[in-house]
Amino acid sequence: MADITVRKIRFSFEEPIDFEVSDERLGAILGPLALSMTMPYLEPYLIRTMKAALKRISDPVLAEDARRFSQQEGHHYRNHALLNDQIRRQFADAGAEALRAIESDLETDYQRFTRTKSLRFNVAYAEGFEAMTCAGALAAAEHGSFDGGTLPGGEIWGWHMAEEIEHRTVAFNVYRHLVGSYPYRILAGTWAQWHYVSYIRRFARCMADALGRTPVTPRSPVQRAALRNYLRTWSPRYDPGKIELPAGVQELLDRYSSMAA
Ligand SMILES: [Fe+2]
Ligand SMILES: [Fe+2]
Repeated sequence: MADITVRKIRFSFEEPIDFEVSDERLGAILGPLALSMTMPYLEPYLIRTMKAALKRISDPVLAEDARRFSQQEGHHYRNHALLNDQIRRQFADAGAEALRAIESDLETDYQRFTRTKSLRFNVAYAEGFEAMTCAGALAAAEHGSFDGGTLPGGEIWGWHMAEEIEHRTVAFNVYRHLVGSYPYRILAGTWAQWHYVSYIRRFARCMADALGRTPVTPRSPVQRAALRNYLRTWSPRYDPGKIELPAGVQELLDRYSSMAA
């Protein structure tokens, strides 16, 4: 069984987000804020997918992992929804409205996937998303840029990234258990990543337009490491169960365990 602890934590987001920053800094913060905007739609979709998968999972250990995965994702998106309220508040009506319109499109997509797509597709989407975010979280951990203190929203980032690493095996193992096909994992997983990233771009562009700014995103060592980790997920031998916890992640998880209700 994967070692997954469900931590009920609620962060508060009172500090206003400082958008009066350099174009480079703006480029560095809009991506994470865009990611936050997707979470109250993406993560409930993952939970619905796991709920459907649970009806077919015959391995009780994997079933327990899937339940804990869903509980972790549930706490993630509830915190992101609070951060997103704060993000929207900082834009004038038109900007907040534009963000709402993208949120509505994303929710419509995910509700449609749950309603009309096969479990095979939805499980592959979940694994495609999890593989990509785990690649990014591992890169951030390896480069010591896990410190949420540097991003608007603060500690939500360290907590969320550490738990994404903690539950990294679940979507992959559920996919392997119920579907198994390598070509389909790559095909549907890559489509899922394209679909998801296109929304990240829309949210980021929307915020930049509302601010009347043109953010700059220079390539950083973390981004290069994330790309390297991501390319490894394309290997037929890829198995997140073989990835060791990077240094410092266990300490973070322990810290959040002590903060949890
Ligand atoms: Fe999450
Ligand atoms: Fe996750």
